[in-house]
Amino acid sequence: MRGRPRWGIAWLALLLVAGCASAGDGALPQNALDPAGPVARIQDRLWDLVFPVAVVVFILVQGLIIVAVVKFRDRGEDRPPRQIAGNTRLEVMWTIIPALILVGIAVPTIATIFQLAGPPADDALTVRVIGKQYWWQFEYLNAGPGEPIRTASELHIPIDREVFIELEGRPGETEDVVDVIHSFWVPRLAGKQDYVPGHIRTMRIQADEPGTYQGQCAEFCGLSHADMRFAVIAHEPADFDAWLATQRAPAGEPTSGLLRQGEQLFSQQQCFTCHTLDGHPDNANARTGPALTHFAERQKFAGYTYDRTDENLRQWVSNPQSLKLGAQMPPYGTGVALSDQELDALVAYLQSLD
Ligand code: CUA
Repeated sequence: MRGRPRWGIAWLALLLVAGCASAGDGALPQNALDPAGPVARIQDRLWDLVFPVAVVVFILVQGLIIVAVVKFRDRGEDRPPRQIAGNTRLEVMWTIIPALILVGIAVPTIATIFQLAGPPADDALTVRVIGKQYWWQFEYLNAGPGEPIRTASELHIPIDREVFIELEGRPGETEDVVDVIHSFWVPRLAGKQDYVPGHIRTMRIQADEPGTYQGQCAEFCGLSHADMRFAVIAHEPADFDAWLATQRAPAGEPTSGLLRQGEQLFSQQQCFTCHTLDGHPDNANARTGPALTHFAERQKFAGYTYDRTDENLRQWVSNPQSLKLGAQMPPYGTGVALSDQELDALVAYLQSLD
C-alpha cells in the first residue's frame, strides 16, 4: 500500500515529460522542436534520430534497475547475498553496444556539422552580429551601397534566403568589444552559436515564412542575461527591400516645437556620444549604445524586453537600471538631468524617429 503514492508521482512526471515533448504546435515561440527553416530542420532531424535511441536506452536501463531492486531486495534472510566477481561476456557487451550506438549517432552528427559549416552561399545576406551588455547589434554588410545599416535587438531578414551570421568578437576600429561570452540562439531557425570575444564565429539561419521568431542569449553574461532577448523578423523579399530603403534614409527633421526641443536635448545631454542618429546635426556615428536613427520603427527596446511605449521610454531614460539591471546607460531622470517636461520632449522626439 505504501508504494502507491510514489508510483503516482512517477506517472505524473512521465506525463509532464510527454506533454513538453509534444507541444510542437507553435504555441511556444522558442520551441526548437518546431523548426521554421531549412537549417533548423536539418538539425531537428538529428533530434529525431537521437531521441528514440535515448528513450530505448533509458527504458532499458531504468527497467533493469527496477528489476534488480525488486528481485534482489532484502527479504529479511540473515545472510549476505551471493558474491559475484565480474562477468567478461557482460562487460564486453556493455562496452561494445554503447560504442556502436555512439558511432551510429556520431556519423550523421558530424555530417550535419560539415553540411552547415563552410562559406556563405553566393546570394546569402551577411549580417555582422555583436553582443553587447545586454542587447545584440546587427549590421547588414552586403545589403546595398554605402555604410552598412545597423539595428539593435531586431534582425530583419528576407524569407527563403540564407542569412550568414558573423558573430564578430574581434575588437574593430570603431567597436568596443566587452570581454564577455554570449550565445546567439533563435530556436526555431537554428541551434546555438557562442559569441566569443577575440574570435569570429559564423552560423547561418533561414526562414520559410514571414513572421517574428524570438531569440535569446543562451550563455550567462551578467546581471541582465535573461533579458538579452532579440527577434528575427522575416519578410517577403519585396517587403525586405522596402524596409532596407527606409533604413538607409536619415531621420526626418523635427516637425514641431516639442520635437525640436527633443532634438536639442539629444545634443545637450550628449546622447550622441553613445548613440548613432543619422540625420541629427550632432550625429557622431557612435557605437556604444543602440543606433537610434529609426528607433520608432522598432517594436520593443532594451534587449527586446519592453514595448516601445511612452511610459516605458520615460522610465528607461529616467532610470535604465530600474528596468534592466546592469544596463550601461546612466540615469537622466527628474532631479538628475531632465525635468518632467524635458523628458516628454525627448520621448516624443524618440517616438518620431520612424
Ligand atoms: Cu548575453 Cu547572456
